[in-house]
Amino acid sequence: MSILVTGGAGFIGSNFIIDWFKTSNEEVINLDKLTYAANLSNLDSIHASSFPYTFIEGDICDTDLIDSILTKHNIRAVVNFAAESHVDRSIKNPDIFLQTNVIGTSRLLDAFNRHWVNNKESLDLNFIFLHVSTDEVFGDLGIDDKPFKESNPYLPNSPYSASKASSDHISRAYHQTYNLPVIISNCSNNYGAYQFPEKLIPLVISNALNNKSINIYGDGHQIRDWLHVSDHCSALRAILSNGIPGETYNIGGNAEKRNIDVVNTICDILDKSKPREDLRSYKEQITFIKDRPGHDRRYAVDCSKLENSLNWKQDESFLTGLEKTIQWYLTNSDWLDGVKNKDYGEWIRDQYGK
Ligand code: NAD
Ligand code: TYD
Repeated sequence: MSILVTGGAGFIGSNFIIDWFKTSNEEVINLDKLTYAANLSNLDSIHASSFPYTFIEGDICDTDLIDSILTKHNIRAVVNFAAESHVDRSIKNPDIFLQTNVIGTSRLLDAFNRHWVNNKESLDLNFIFLHVSTDEVFGDLGIDDKPFKESNPYLPNSPYSASKASSDHISRAYHQTYNLPVIISNCSNNYGAYQFPEKLIPLVISNALNNKSINIYGDGHQIRDWLHVSDHCSALRAILSNGIPGETYNIGGNAEKRNIDVVNTICDILDKSKPREDLRSYKEQITFIKDRPGHDRRYAVDCSKLENSLNWKQDESFLTGLEKTIQWYLTNSDWLDGVKNKDYGEWIRDQYGK
């Protein structure tokens, strides 16, 4: 038996696969369309080893391909990471977000449902469809509001979060209607190794080191909850092993930070570990720019359900996780340079005007 990981060449998916083989020998099939956000070299150590692992280039919208993978590889669980994941890109081009995040997830569910119906009697297996989603589906919190609970209403504000909310709804419907063993996880902002430098933390590190301006949208007082990617991976493993079908689980870092504080902390760490040649602070590169349209002010996650029912907790604090992450980017500057191709340059110029 095997698990199908979709989007396994992206940031969280590749961390998940590397993490998986630290504790499991169960085969992993990685299906990824290899969009701009993918980087197969993240998995070089896995490709070079004898782990039971297969990579397949393809689209979660391709029903025939999914049907054949599910049957050929005897798939018992799907972990669906595949998505368009960047809010700013969703503001510029929502269409692809609807195609992959909504239609793709729906086709994947439908194929897995057929596969499950055909095999559930004959195989005594732990079938699960784990849909990896975001806390952004719950919308925007005021400063005094309680953190999101699983029972909060969905109020997505960006095309990205609306597309993820839609994919959560269709995932839930497959459980309610067909009894398909579906679990949804809603996680806060991740950071760590292999994150594409369009998201805040790797972009700030990259721009700081390249003597470029460090752009902060609006006043920088927006708040996000930050979770190190290794803790997201351990939460997903716990959910895959012991989560209850039909349930949803929030995953968070208990680490609410204002963007300006995140950026200042990165600059402080870099000032010590890789001082600028002129010995001035990286903070001098900070520039406040026009705010993101529809910018959510605050996300915060109550993950007590996951902590209490599945005995999960974070291993990294924001500071330990951030220090490790910065160290990783300093050690892997080749990786950072390697992902900055022509498309990346065009995106940065289009988004930030330089
Ligand atoms: P990412 O953009 O780094 O990677 C996405 C991967 O999906 C890429 O490898 C891409 O090639 C692949 N992909 C895109 N469209 C595809 C398609 N049609 N078929 C097959 N593969 C396709 O994203 P990420 O940050 O690793 O996020 C992974 C998942 O976790 C997403 O579903 C995202 O919504 C969710 N999530 C992310 C965060 C975060 O902070 N990054 C937080 C909570 C939830
Ligand atoms: P991001 O990493 O894009 O994640 P998300 O929008 O999914 O939360 O952005 C995190 C926060 O940082 C968000 O409030 C927007 C802000 N931000 C900036 O201020 N400047 C930037 O250049 C980027 C990419 C994000």
